[in-house]
Amino acid sequence: MGSSIIIEKSDKTSISAVDYKNLGFGKVFTDHLFEVDYVNGQWQTPKIVPFHNLSLHPATSFIHYGQTIFEGLKAFKDINGDILVFRPKTNWARMNKSAERVCMPTIPEEIFIQGLEALLKIDEAWFPKEAGTSMYIRPFMFSMDAEIRVRPSDTYKFMIIISPSGAYYSEPVKVTVEKHYVRASNGGLGFAKTAANYAASLLPAKKAVENGYHQLIWTDSKEHKYIEEAGTMNFMFVINGKLITPQLSDSILDGVTRDSIIQLAKDMGVSVEERKVSVEEVVDALKNGTLQDAFGAGTAATVSHIIQIANEGVDYHLPPVAQRDFSNKVADLLNNIKLGLAPDPHNWIHKIKL
Ligand code: COI
Repeated sequence: MGSSIIIEKSDKTSISAVDYKNLGFGKVFTDHLFEVDYVNGQWQTPKIVPFHNLSLHPATSFIHYGQTIFEGLKAFKDINGDILVFRPKTNWARMNKSAERVCMPTIPEEIFIQGLEALLKIDEAWFPKEAGTSMYIRPFMFSMDAEIRVRPSDTYKFMIIISPSGAYYSEPVKVTVEKHYVRASNGGLGFAKTAANYAASLLPAKKAVENGYHQLIWTDSKEHKYIEEAGTMNFMFVINGKLITPQLSDSILDGVTRDSIIQLAKDMGVSVEERKVSVEEVVDALKNGTLQDAFGAGTAATVSHIIQIANEGVDYHLPPVAQRDFSNKVADLLNNIKLGLAPDPHNWIHKIKL
């Protein structure tokens, strides 16, 4: 495919209007986007075109029935100015798992990879340079049939937009254990990166914010006994020197950062347990001082230290961030691998030479 991407360059740029010192997360977009349509059972010719709004028929099916999926990944520039994308093939594979769950066509690897390569290259001047920033990449697909009946669409659009971004959480995170609302249940959509999971989180997350927390810890839908994830990130704990994280299931997202941290922990000789983690176990560890570290792991969130956990109206305070051995070490290592400053033993970096 590669050379068959049609490229229509923008004749103007809005880069001079960007305040690179105050990017925020996912608010600024570059001059171009990538798009390709799925029609008559086939992906059509992909294009890179000037960034534009969408014009949609009011009956477009994803607006009504949520047949839409997305991914999130990050790219950086190394000291030579080459572009380093972190594990894009893992995101591509996960996007296709999401696609299958919500009855959408899968995306060929070359469309996904060559599309993001071409887009990152054409807008390479937009990469932020400040520490802690990245080029956030948002691939997404949605159903396009204009019809009110509930059925899988015949037509789809896959797009990639990119956003120079700062941190998702700008401070250590306070969370509260959610025991009423449910993000996902067995047999549902929880492992898929689809809009419904995020819609389910909005009201409870808003209530959590009103009560002074940044996020929720979702628990299982049957008993509200076991920890699942945060919706914006997976959860990890260090208890008695062991890295403990909820095992994957059909209600938990298979996070790329989660997987990377588990691998790096094993490389460091840290023992790792992927298993059911009960709220009770975490509360006991908080009470008896064996909980040494807790953090969220996600592409947008990277490694987000948890500073406070509330359960049933009681706030538990965690050790100061500066004292956290594992999360600080792994965050630095992961960051250095992403920036090309540390060896990449697992071949996670996809380099794009300019
Ligand atoms: C990501 O981490 O890339 C996500 O898509 C999560 C979203 C809440 C920003």
